[in-house]
Amino acid sequence: LVAALEEVDETYIMVKPDGVQRGLVGEVISRFEKKGFKLTGLKLFQCPRDLAEEHYKDLKAKPFFPKLIKYITSGPVVCMAWEGVGVVASARKLIGATDPLQAEPGTIRGDLAVQTGRNVVHGSDSPENGKREIGKAFDALLRYYHLLNLSDMIT
Ligand code: TYD
Repeated sequence: LVAALEEVDETYIMVKPDGVQRGLVGEVISRFEKKGFKLTGLKLFQCPRDLAEEHYKDLKAKPFFPKLIKYITSGPVVCMAWEGVGVVASARKLIGATDPLQAEPGTIRGDLAVQTGRNVVHGSDSPENGKREIGKAFDALLRYYHLLNLSDMIT
């Protein structure tokens, strides 16, 4: 069963501190729900510095890295695991380009933001990173129990 769960396509979505502060959590969740994906994990928490640095480790050499870490740890974030066919690439489309001024209207960033440094939401850029980021943010064992309970409910 654990092997089967590991094959499920899933992505890590995080409403960043600006999104939480502006009351956009429901809006973000709603867009993923309406698209047809399944929410399998959700929590509000203050992202610790070490997790933020791990999460963005590929960007460590970038000049904006210190500001990015300060911003991500500046207030509560809402992190989520979403599951579904093609969810990783589809979520990136729903979110839109990194710079909200370049993001298409109809996307989350295109509709709701103007600054790259305040772009409301994060979405994993690959299935591997999706699994890695979900694993870091959620207690793996608790999450497997949660999934087991969900499958009990629907079968
Ligand atoms: P990146 O992984 O390139 O973009 P995305 O979030 O679309 O996957 O960058 C991560 C975050 O870093 C991005 O959402 C906002 C921040 N960032 C800046 O603050 N300035 C920048 O010039 C870039 C490229 C990113």
